[in-house]
Amino acid sequence: MSFKPANNIQDLQYFGEFGGVNPSISDSSTYTFLSAKTMFDTFEGNADGCYLYSRHSSPSNLYLGEALAAMEGTETANVTASGMGAITPVILQLCGAGDHVVSSRTIYGGTYAFLKNFTPKLNISTSFVDITKLDVVEAAITENTKVLYCESVSNPLLEVADIKGLAAIAKKHNLKLVVDNTFSPLSISPVKLGADIVIHSLTKFINGSSDTVGGVVCGTQEFIDALRNVNDGACMLLGSTMDSLRAASVLKNLRTLHIRMQQHSHNATYLAQKFEADGLKTVYPGLESHPSHELFKSMMNEKYGFGGMLTIDVGSLDKANALMELMQEKNLGYLAVSLGFYKTLFSAPGSSTSSEIPEDEQKEMGLSDGLIRFSIGLDADIERTYNMMRECMESLNILDKKSEASLV
Ligand SMILES: Cc1ncc(COP(=O)(O)O)c(C=O)c1O
Repeated sequence: MSFKPANNIQDLQYFGEFGGVNPSISDSSTYTFLSAKTMFDTFEGNADGCYLYSRHSSPSNLYLGEALAAMEGTETANVTASGMGAITPVILQLCGAGDHVVSSRTIYGGTYAFLKNFTPKLNISTSFVDITKLDVVEAAITENTKVLYCESVSNPLLEVADIKGLAAIAKKHNLKLVVDNTFSPLSISPVKLGADIVIHSLTKFINGSSDTVGGVVCGTQEFIDALRNVNDGACMLLGSTMDSLRAASVLKNLRTLHIRMQQHSHNATYLAQKFEADGLKTVYPGLESHPSHELFKSMMNEKYGFGGMLTIDVGSLDKANALMELMQEKNLGYLAVSLGFYKTLFSAPGSSTSSEIPEDEQKEMGLSDGLIRFSIGLDADIERTYNMMRECMESLNILDKKSEASLV
């Protein structure tokens, strides 16, 4: 049976403390106990339904976590103060000194920097591989490997991970497959394809308002309990806890995610097809020219399309910068990092979100200077947007002016 993540969100039912249609917000950092014994049991992890201290859990954070677990089809989830606040404790919970990670080499720059520069200080090493080549992935596994890490659709190159294939490798070698699904919420459900743990930066499409950072780890009850354990849980001890007020606001935005993803995908498909027809080097998983188009199709849930992210290569950083500045001037979007906003956001990843990756490695993985990453907005009239973008490209000689004949 096909998985329907948006139905799972729709079917959640809440009765607030006073019968409100939204759950009441728990605006407390600490909680009372009627008996000292219950407090002791809660510390021991044996008192379900009792709250201790909001760094551990709070009602509002649990509501959001449960909604995201329903979306990903996992037993439960733990929300965090940012996407990095989800990624770093997961790695540190699963790996200790001497352990090894096999990671996709095309991942968010912050995750790359953490694995490349930070975890070696704890004697955790990482091999970065081309995640689209399963034989290369398997060859990188050593007896110390504990984690296989990837993004379902990678930032910024939009490479697509074969999650079923990777899950089979992970199972064979007794590794945990951790998938960052930030670029493809609803479209791809990694746990349904065999992943063990799914992470999101909620900052992006899921919240969709560019008004907060946030993150989530979705997984088994056992793993989430381990992350929250008061004695050795990485979420509990590293302390990147989401604030309850924020959890309540992200939960409200989550309810429109399915409509937003449909519009992001619709608009991105329209622009990608136009840009490609114009002769621009365009990467979008929804294009047949994308090397993993068929793979994405084989993994995707119905209705939500191929997502809102696309890249074009305009040849040089100077041209990319000029185009982005002009598009911002013409109010086509913002020259800004991040994604999932109602307006289009664009940035040149080589000099921004992926600048942590050394230049020679950027070249090797195909991250060129002229690459512009677009997070396509919710524009009501995408044809108008395209025409204005095209005018910008023509005025900067990125595209030739259309002849009179071809304009009719
Ligand atoms: C794919 C991906 N994962 C994780 C992150 C980190 O999330 P946050 O900025 O919420 O910490 C980002 C941020 O850009 C991202 O693009």
